[in-house]
Amino acid sequence: MFDVQNLSFSYFLGKAEFKALQDVSLNIPEGDFVTLAGPSGSGKSTLLSIMGLIENSPSQSVFYRDQDLHSLDELRKNKLRRHEFGFIFQHFYLFPVLSAYENVEYFLVKQGIPDAERKIRVEWALETVGLKDLSQKKPNELSGGQRQRVAIARALAKKPQVIIADEPTASLDSKTGRTILDYLLKINQDEKVTIVMASHDQMVLAASPRIIRLHDGRLET
Ligand SMILES: Nc1ncnc2c1ncn2[C@@H]1O[C@H](COP(=O)(O)OP(=O)(O)O)[C@@H](O)[C@H]1O
Ligand SMILES: [Mg+2]
Repeated sequence: MFDVQNLSFSYFLGKAEFKALQDVSLNIPEGDFVTLAGPSGSGKSTLLSIMGLIENSPSQSVFYRDQDLHSLDELRKNKLRRHEFGFIFQHFYLFPVLSAYENVEYFLVKQGIPDAERKIRVEWALETVGLKDLSQKKPNELSGGQRQRVAIARALAKKPQVIIADEPTASLDSKTGRTILDYLLKINQDEKVTIVMASHDQMVLAASPRIIRLHDGRLET
């Protein structure tokens, strides 16, 4: 699904170049569950943001289903971001004034999904993460783990091909983090959604089906 070939990526601060990724190559087949591991600053978020079209990739280095991400026009990139990629972040990024239900529904409204279909998807997504009974609660009425489950439901309701999760358990205690990981594993199994996650949480790594380690922007061999 993703094929990364000799990817190097730098941030420029004025004239100073900082090499965040150096010569990274990896392959993620459809249906995989892969965890990018490595200490803080090793390039995990940079790699995820290139794969998720948040950062631009250099030419001929990142392929998604055989398409060079670099060469896609903005329209196509937006389509992928909106329809095929679901995102989950450490800090949830829910709208505080919207209920759990409305947070999950929000992007479906923007996508123009018809009312009846939207209702089915939102209810299904909330049910999948065990939040059916809390759907009318606002984020500040929910625990951290419940908020992250809303964020997972929001990603899932898009019916994405891949979920990109950047440190999804880093704000949570280990027991709650374990629950979040179990939902991601279940979604991967039951819905066949490919999952690419970054984490430096030992509990997450211990339960991850496949780990790719980064160190100072390079793959560890
Ligand atoms: N927007 C940015 N501008 C400059 N440097 C950045 C930026 N984002 C990340 N970096 C640097 O790139 C390196 C890799 O960062 P990151 O991909 O966030 O690592 P990780 O997610 O593994 O902690 C770090 O040294 C970080 O300081
Ligand atoms: Mg990071």
